[in-house]
Amino acid sequence: MSDIVDAVRARYADKALRMAAAPAADACCGDASGATDAGSAACCGDAYGADELAALGLDPAASLGCGDPTLLADLHPGETVLDLGSGAGLDVLLSARRVSPGGHAYGVDITDEMLAVARANQEKAKVENATFLKGAIEAVPLPDASVDVVISNCVINLAADKSAVLREAFRILRPGGRFAVADMVALEELTSDAKRRLDLWAGCIAGTISAEAYAEALAAAGFGEIGIETTRELALAGVGRIASAYIRARKAQGDSYADG
Ligand SMILES: C[S@@+](CC[C@H](N)C(=O)[O-])C[C@H]1O[C@@H](n2cnc3c(N)ncnc32)[C@H](O)[C@@H]1O
Repeated sequence: MSDIVDAVRARYADKALRMAAAPAADACCGDASGATDAGSAACCGDAYGADELAALGLDPAASLGCGDPTLLADLHPGETVLDLGSGAGLDVLLSARRVSPGGHAYGVDITDEMLAVARANQEKAKVENATFLKGAIEAVPLPDASVDVVISNCVINLAADKSAVLREAFRILRPGGRFAVADMVALEELTSDAKRRLDLWAGCIAGTISAEAYAEALAAAGFGEIGIETTRELALAGVGRIASAYIRARKAQGDSYADG
């Protein structure tokens, strides 16, 4: 398991350093590692409206995600949002604008170099109601029931223990809180060769699970109102088929899901 964490951290430290050196040049879509890099094929800042990023002075190339979870989340002023695996910070900064006034957006990431890029982007965007925290998404440094919405963009597939991440999301959400995530899912069993490759794990391929397994893990963590919609499909030669997906769920308000 620590091999996976090391491979993931090394990959995103390298990406962060390249973003810091040439912010517009290191779009995940333009990564030289080519066809074996799901980040290359699956993500891009093209999920975002150009205007909303331009308003913050941010380049879509800073996105390593596979969707726009801030739209899925339907954020409102005054809410508190947490982004699991915040990368260069785009989703945190967009969320911070949407929950203003009175709200706050947190990002958590394990990679120091990414946190540095995110904080530089925060300064550039002049967003005050956002905080980037160092930490693992399996053990988030925030108290129980402290956020209204958990978002994430192409990160949970990277975790060795997805159930631990989903239990952590459930712990941090307030009753009635929403889970609104963009992620990659497997459309079929990937080849065993592919599943063993750490570069494919760090590239958002080998760690993917099926939508059914994702839904089961969410339910086991305590979530209800689970919905998963796959969008862009990718067929990777010698690996298998994966897709980007939007995943929603909710923590019950008291004993029911009826009143939130
Ligand atoms: C594919 S990038 C996505 C970044 C960002 N969400 C986006 O949409 O651009 C994955 C990010 O998750 C972080 N990450 C991966 N595994 C993590 C973990 N277990 N705990 C915290 N952060 C993690 C990486 O450091 C990296 O910044």
